[in-house]
Amino acid sequence: MTLPKHIAIIMDGNGRWAQRRGLPRVAGHREGLRVAKEIVAETARLGIPVLTLFAFSTENWRRPPEEVGFLMELLEEAVAQELAELARHNVVLRAIGRLGELSPRAQSALARAMETTAHNTGLILNLAINYGGRAEIVDAVRAVAQRVQQGELTPEMVNEEVFSSFLTTAGLPDPDLIIRSGGELRLSNFLLWQGAYAEFYSTPVLWPDFRPCDLHAAIEAYQQRERRFGSVSVKGREE
Ligand code: IPE
Ligand code: IPE
Ligand code: MG
Repeated sequence: MTLPKHIAIIMDGNGRWAQRRGLPRVAGHREGLRVAKEIVAETARLGIPVLTLFAFSTENWRRPPEEVGFLMELLEEAVAQELAELARHNVVLRAIGRLGELSPRAQSALARAMETTAHNTGLILNLAINYGGRAEIVDAVRAVAQRVQQGELTPEMVNEEVFSSFLTTAGLPDPDLIIRSGGELRLSNFLLWQGAYAEFYSTPVLWPDFRPCDLHAAIEAYQQRERRFGSVSVKGREE
C-alpha cells in the first residue's frame, strides 16, 4: 500500500477539549502541543517524507489577545526546546506563512531551528504559522508581478509550475492527504493551491485526543480512495 508523501494536518479542537473539562482554552493548546510532538515522531517512524502542521492561521489573530499571546509563546518555546528532539528524529524543520509578522523572538527561534536541522535527512516538518492560503497566493502574485516588471519574466512564462515555485512550499510535493481533527468539514484557508487534489479526511476526534492510531486510520482511509485526478476510473477504462 502506498503511503502519502505529504500529510498536512489542521490541528483543530484544542479549545473545545479544554472547555469540556472546565479548563481555560489555553490548557487545550498545551495538550495539543504534546500531541503534535507524538504525531511528528510517529510520522517520522512511518517514513512519510513531509508533514505540514497548521499551527496558527492568518485569521487566528482575531482571537482574544491573551490566547494569541499564549499561542505565540508556546510556539516559540516549543521550537527552541524541541531542537534536540528534532535532531534525534533526524527531522528537517521548515516553516510557511507570513513569518515576518511574528515576534522577533519567534522569528529568531525559528531561524535557528531551521538552520540547525537543515542538514538532517529525515522527515521534513513544515510548520504553518501565520499561514493563510489566500495571503500566500497574494504574496506569490506580487513576487511574480515584480519579476515581470523587472523584465525577468514574461506573462506567457507563468504557468502552474512556475507559479508554484513562488509559493512558500516551493520544492515540497503537494499534500496527498489533509487531515482535520475536531470534526469541521472545511479547509479554513489551508493550502488552497497545494491541496487542489489532496484527499480530505475529517475526524471528530479533538486534537488533544488525537493518537497515532487516529493517524493510522486516516492513512488507511486514504489508501482506500481512488485518486482519479480528473480522469476516469482505472476500472471504467477497462470496461
Ligand atoms: C486549534 O484549536 C488550534 C488553533 C487554531 C491554534 P482551536 O483553538 O481552534 O479549538 P476549537 O476549534 O476552538 O475547539
Ligand atoms: C484552523 O482552525 C486553524 C488551525 C488549526 C491553526 P480554526 O479553529 O482557526 O478554524 P475555523 O475558525 O473553525 O474555521
Ligand atoms: Mg478551531
